[in-house]
Amino acid sequence: MTNMHTSRQLTFADDNNDKTSISVTILETFDTSASYGLYLWPCSPILAQYIWYNRNDFIGKNILEIGAGTSLPGLVAAKIGAQNVILCDNPKIDKWLPLIRETMKLNMMIADRICIEFLDWYDEESIDGVIKKYFPSDVDIIIGSDIFFDKKDFETILALLDKLFTYKNSSLKFIGTIERRSRSTILKLNHLIYAWNMTLDIVPLNSFNGDAIHPNIIAGHDIVLFSIVKTTQK
Ligand SMILES: C[S@@+](CC[C@H](N)C(=O)[O-])C[C@H]1O[C@@H](n2cnc3c(N)ncnc32)[C@H](O)[C@@H]1O
Repeated sequence: MTNMHTSRQLTFADDNNDKTSISVTILETFDTSASYGLYLWPCSPILAQYIWYNRNDFIGKNILEIGAGTSLPGLVAAKIGAQNVILCDNPKIDKWLPLIRETMKLNMMIADRICIEFLDWYDEESIDGVIKKYFPSDVDIIIGSDIFFDKKDFETILALLDKLFTYKNSSLKFIGTIERRSRSTILKLNHLIYAWNMTLDIVPLNSFNGDAIHPNIIAGHDIVLFSIVKTTQK
């Protein structure tokens, strides 16, 4: 590991004083030649907090995280007792694999429940590789933090979700976070969701203490947590 990496420990705790908590260590890189994916985006602790707060829904489940980057939500899922967590990111981000392998060493307790895969939303071969290896039985929930960051990618990501949804004849759900970087962000997403015969539901942050955590990371960022399902599955 070079000194371009810095580690950050995040703790998730109940607010009822019963001292139930978990801590996860992630690595970020500030090497300017690296991708922006190797930085903890403010959407990430919000999705992680959702998983922590709703952990009964994730315990024993198989989780696929796409556009995982520093992978905090997936690591939290593994730590609270998900059966298996598949972390995926773009093969073009060559610094991701060493970063995530180093992260695994720092979170040794959960390393045996984590798989690392390359999945490029634009590359059918890499998508089919993940489907062949893990679908339909080894994925129950798909998660993604701040993957809807560039409007030009929205439709491609929805096409990917649509493909994954059709490989699983049950109620496969995507749970993600998005940053409202412009007034039209959610409008654009919702418009496409409708066109893809999917349903988007927004979950209020205060329903899972998402409005109260890690203010040093979240401050000033307008984050929305939502789920997407195939409309016919509802
Ligand atoms: C804004 S970052 C979010 C990273 C991380 N999920 C977080 O919230 O901290 C967007 C992520 O999407 C990934 N990404 C971008 N284009 C991609 C593609 N074509 N296929 C797969 N992942 C991609 C990036 O590498 C990056 O990890």
